Amino acid sequence: MMSDAEFPVARPRRLRRTAAIRRMVAGTRLHPAELVLPMFVKEGVTDPQPVSSMPGVFQHTRDSLRKAAHEAAEAGVGALIVFGIPAVKDARGSAGDDPDGIVQKALADLRADLGDSIVIMSDTCLDEFTDHGHCGVLTPEGEVDNDATLERYASVAVAQAAAGSEVVAPSGMMDGQVAAIRAALDANGFSHIPILAYSAKYASGFYGPFREAAECAPQFGDRNAYQQDPAGPVGEALREVRLDVAEGADAVMVKPALAYLDILRQVRDTVEVPVAAYQVSGEYAMVEAAAANGWIDRDRIIMESLIAIRRAGADMILTYWATEVARRLS
Ligand code: PBG
Repeated sequence: MMSDAEFPVARPRRLRRTAAIRRMVAGTRLHPAELVLPMFVKEGVTDPQPVSSMPGVFQHTRDSLRKAAHEAAEAGVGALIVFGIPAVKDARGSAGDDPDGIVQKALADLRADLGDSIVIMSDTCLDEFTDHGHCGVLTPEGEVDNDATLERYASVAVAQAAAGSEVVAPSGMMDGQVAAIRAALDANGFSHIPILAYSAKYASGFYGPFREAAECAPQFGDRNAYQQDPAGPVGEALREVRLDVAEGADAVMVKPALAYLDILRQVRDTVEVPVAAYQVSGEYAMVEAAAANGWIDRDRIIMESLIAIRRAGADMILTYWATEVARRLS
């Protein structure tokens, strides 16, 4: 090898030699405040119900939800996002905008308990509330009716804001959903409530365990006519994101996370608003299942996957590990 003086050899390892140096140059860091915990609350149960495909995740009672939310806030988690499972479902998802619906009750509980110590968000969609499990209302032919669904979303968003949601997050991938919700919020005295739009949401097998947790698997067909095709043109994601921002989205989301880091990076480079990524149920389940078999180092992989999502451009990360990770970070 030639001497450094004649021909300096590049030595990147110099910056990896000690933990202190590595910490100094680390370009990607996680902070509890950017983590968002998705939570499930189920009407009419007296004990929290474990979700078998998501070990450690529960369908909460109103009381156990309050307790888990309090723990998240204590740990410094930035936000909660609430999903609800009503006792009764129907074709139009009536429980979604019923002021006495389970989500509205849970949002009111959480606001009363937690005030402004943590951001309380709500998922704004219909699939948890419809008996057919689709994210919208159906035409007589059984297709999801885009524009009729917008009216339902507008009403659900207003009901959630009235109950105490501080951020509404439409996840149904209907065209025009952000504009419809923005107009309804503004007309009802909620012009201060931001919209976090699930903008680039793919029709993904990674949502499998969630459908057990939220009891919302479609009873016929699939979501391919409204969620994006994983093989679709990349420009489609950017178009969705730009349209949502133009319609008034205050922040946008890419979902799932790990299999779509390329999309996340391009979205981050395309818009100026905050970008969230959702580390979804299947991403969680795969790690928990492999770890339960002793095949992987669970804690290490959780941190590595979150760092990867952050590095790809996420400002906020929705993750079922939010409370645990927030504790580990502090
Ligand atoms: C729809 C919704 C889904 C998820 C969040 N919101 C399910 C779907 O689109 O089928 C999935 C989240 C996850 O898998 O963790 N309301």
